[in-house]
Amino acid sequence: MALYRKYRPASFAEVVGQEHVTEPLSTALESGRINHAYLFSGPRGCGKTSSARILARSLNCEKGPTPTPCGVCDSCVALAPNGPGNVDVVELDAASHGGVDDTRELRDRAFYAPAQSRYRIFIVDEAHMVTTAGFNALLKIVEEPPEHLIFVFATTEPEKVLPTIRSRTHHYPFRLLAPKTMRGLLERICAQEDVLVDDAVYPLVIRAGGGSPRDTLSVLDQLLAGSDGNRVVYARALALLGATDLALIDASVDALAAGDAAALFGAVESLIDAGHDPRRFATDLLERFRDLIVLQAVPDAAARGVVDAPDDVLERMRDQAARLGPATLTRYAEVVHAGLGEMRGATAPRLLLEVVCARLLLPSASDTEAALLQRIERIETRMNVSIPAGEASQAAAAVQAAPAKQFTRRSHAVEPAAPAGPVAPAPPAPAEPAPAVTVARHRRPRQPCRRPPPSSSPAGATPSSRPPRPVPSHLPHPHRPNPRPPSPS
Ligand SMILES: Nc1ncnc2c1ncn2[C@@H]1O[C@H](COP(=O)(O)OP(=O)(O)O)[C@@H](O)[C@H]1O
Ligand SMILES: [Mg+2]
Ligand SMILES: [Zn+2]
Repeated sequence: MALYRKYRPASFAEVVGQEHVTEPLSTALESGRINHAYLFSGPRGCGKTSSARILARSLNCEKGPTPTPCGVCDSCVALAPNGPGNVDVVELDAASHGGVDDTRELRDRAFYAPAQSRYRIFIVDEAHMVTTAGFNALLKIVEEPPEHLIFVFATTEPEKVLPTIRSRTHHYPFRLLAPKTMRGLLERICAQEDVLVDDAVYPLVIRAGGGSPRDTLSVLDQLLAGSDGNRVVYARALALLGATDLALIDASVDALAAGDAAALFGAVESLIDAGHDPRRFATDLLERFRDLIVLQAVPDAAARGVVDAPDDVLERMRDQAARLGPATLTRYAEVVHAGLGEMRGATAPRLLLEVVCARLLLPSASDTEAALLQRIERIETRMNVSIPAGEASQAAAAVQAAPAKQFTRRSHAVEPAAPAGPVAPAPPAPAEPAPAVTVARHRRPRQPCRRPPPSSSPAGATPSSRPPRPVPSHLPHPHRPNPRPPSPS
């Protein structure tokens, strides 16, 4: 039997990740505040149908209504996840039976008192498929239901439920699960199934499932079916799910951090050789940039479950996050995201991917603000590398004594791509203010290197001790006042 059917939750306590729904429902059951119509909405495979059945079971348990059905009375046995069901709980699948004849029949049955249980319960699944005439046939009885009758509507599209009906219901919205929550569910099921799953496989499965427990369990099912013995290994999962090998993602990010074009295009080459989809690679790379940005902003993101990756990958990501600045990562993410839009439906996605790679490598060939910020960050970072924190104050003193000559030269040396030549219309200038920034930084050696880029706007650095240079008109951002006062010379 498929995993998602085998592991159908039998009580609200077993419904994972929907506490915002199951807790108030449990409290209502506990205190006997029962409504006559409920609406469960949310994405597919999140537990709506299961919860509708659980509600029915909880309402009709001999010991109930109770959030913890006893599991042994006739009603509980009949309404157990894979039980036979009973006459008092009727499920209408509106996807196939949403017409007016079906709902009329349902309505006519509603007047009979329950045969064996406390309540007669109608579960209308995929309720958005009920036709308008179908809803109208139910309207009267939902508005004035007999004491013994309870409706549970379940749907992915609550706005398609007739408003007059919807307004009579208590509405409970279900959600997709966070990766961390899903991980817990998967690990528990794998333990019960007695299978070993490589640590690195979980994030792949969770990503492929898109937050829906049912879809995620289906993916796991498929991996289990194709596994040797009781073990799901990373390589097999990778091949089956078509995800990009993490090694390729790592190689690309490392290449970017080092400005190594050959290595980056080499990674694209191996990607194509391995038969991967360039779009998928771009998506996975974007996801990596996202993880790095989050890691940088929230160092304990892994512990909080905001970033989900095996330990060794996390280790490498921390290392990468330390080598790339926030402005750089943000621009990378923007460029890849824009590239993904262009790739949609493109006939030569590989070509576009390579263009995207070129854009990532060459911030100096772009006149966007993001690209400028990346270049400023690059300069700042390099300056920091050239002066370890401890020696910074000495270096500053030295600079003061003998105005920044060597640093000026260095910053030109490390920024060879700076004059963007023919590409952008504005350029020859952008490299110019760099020395000025250099000076400013040396005067303030205690500035941490990863400050938010705007504070280092070159505009403020110009009135320094250096002979005044004309500031290129496109550089200072007039809307962004310079937070730093000009440094005294
Ligand atoms: N919140 C959840 N907790 C645990 N398992 C879930 C959850 N949501 C869905 N599942 C799994 O997915 C299967 C299908 O869920 P279902 O209730 O039919 O989803 P829906 O009706 O929202 O499409 C369940 O049998 C169960 O295995
Ligand atoms: Mg359903
Ligand atoms: Zn019971």
